[in-house]
Amino acid sequence: MPKESLTVTDNRTGKQYELPIENGTIRTTDLRQIKVSPEDFGLMGYDPAFMNTASCKSKVTFIDGDKGILRYRGYPIEQLAEQSNFLEVAYLIVQGELPSKEQLEDWKYQITHHTIVHENIKKFMDGFHYDAHPMGMFTSTMAALSTFYTDAKNIFDKESRQIQIYRLIAKVPTIAAFAYRHTMGLPYAYPDNDLSYAGNFLNMLFKMTEPKYVPDPALERALDVLFILHADHEQNCSANAMRSVGSSQVDPYSALAAASAALYGPLHGGANEAVLRMLREIGSKDKIPAFIKEVKEGKGEKKLMGFGHRVYKNYDPRAKIIKKLADDVFEVTGKNPLLDIALELERIALEDDYFVKRKLYPNVDFYSGLIYQALRFPVEMFPVLFAIGRTAGWVAQWEEMLLDTEQKIARPRQVYLGYASRDYVPIVRR
Ligand code: COA
Repeated sequence: MPKESLTVTDNRTGKQYELPIENGTIRTTDLRQIKVSPEDFGLMGYDPAFMNTASCKSKVTFIDGDKGILRYRGYPIEQLAEQSNFLEVAYLIVQGELPSKEQLEDWKYQITHHTIVHENIKKFMDGFHYDAHPMGMFTSTMAALSTFYTDAKNIFDKESRQIQIYRLIAKVPTIAAFAYRHTMGLPYAYPDNDLSYAGNFLNMLFKMTEPKYVPDPALERALDVLFILHADHEQNCSANAMRSVGSSQVDPYSALAAASAALYGPLHGGANEAVLRMLREIGSKDKIPAFIKEVKEGKGEKKLMGFGHRVYKNYDPRAKIIKKLADDVFEVTGKNPLLDIALELERIALEDDYFVKRKLYPNVDFYSGLIYQALRFPVEMFPVLFAIGRTAGWVAQWEEMLLDTEQKIARPRQVYLGYASRDYVPIVRR
């Protein structure tokens, strides 16, 4: 039986060290014993952007990027998108198992009955400028929630954590919808507890003067599936922000505001908007070959937006589901004229050696923007929609981090390359 260890020879000293391998990893703290002298701090790992460093052990989400696999708690994303619904998936992600009928009823009841926000939140949101970006409003309002729920500081109290999780999953659609109504200059629409999670969100967004809003079932289902597809994606930038900020033991509203801020960035939550811009720029199918040529000759300067992924080197499984979903949505809303360009672009790119060699396939953002646009969302709302689904993942990652006895406050090391030491020079002598 081969030994689960790594033998390292330090060529500076000739010494050999044996480092245990566990779950395919070595602990970089084990490198610290490798020193050239007793005063030496010891060897460290250098890994900007965590390209090859696991920051935690997790049981939430599994991704195999080469095979195009995504599973929440072991369940394939395809099965969940087809057979489950967002609230059940949120339960699975947060609690670790699929709920029984009673557990699901209780979970739905709790979330439905925490959707209303304090009236002062409304006033708080009124203070934003008329053209404030909805994601900026969303992020700040999430942070503001910590001032309304001061009990949320009791992060080691299981019951308190559970209430904050209900509140967070319940209130994110309300705050997202209020942000949208604020930018549209419309009065806020209150939650309707008779509707599903996605149906109620559509109600809070689009209800006008009708006494009762009735969501279109196809659009309600499409939105629900989009929430499922965005619910978690293991240690991405915003999940890492949630864990890192949460590791200071701050309340979950403040940590979630940090995660939301991470998602606001164009490299994380903004790619689907870039896809729409690109499709508009291409304009018609006959211009696709010239566009592809430009991308290929641009040597990385111009990218095919919605293609490629840091982890997936195969078709993003979420993109496949979204592509199918688009047909259901367009049947109700009418086809987004950009769809034909997208389909043809995908067809040509997948046959092109440049993209095949580099394993560049459509990612989740390639088709999601087209659906969001057909659902009448302005592009500024795209990252907010992402944040609603992802809240389930954020709170699950946060709680897992808190209960992990190996975790401490996240505090990376650095490689210091600045001046060693120098004396202060008074300003007159500089
Ligand atoms: N279009 C054209 N070429 C692309 C490309 C794209 N979308 N994505 C990557 N490439 C090329 C790179 O230029 C590079 O080519 P080279 O080997 O000739 O230098 C090669 O493929 C490897 O790309 P790299 O930048 O190392 O991959 P990455 O893992 O760092 O980047 C992304 C991943 C997602 C940032 C990148 O694919 C991208 O920018 N995609 C478009 C934006 C997008 O859709 N983002 C949403 C992600 S969910």
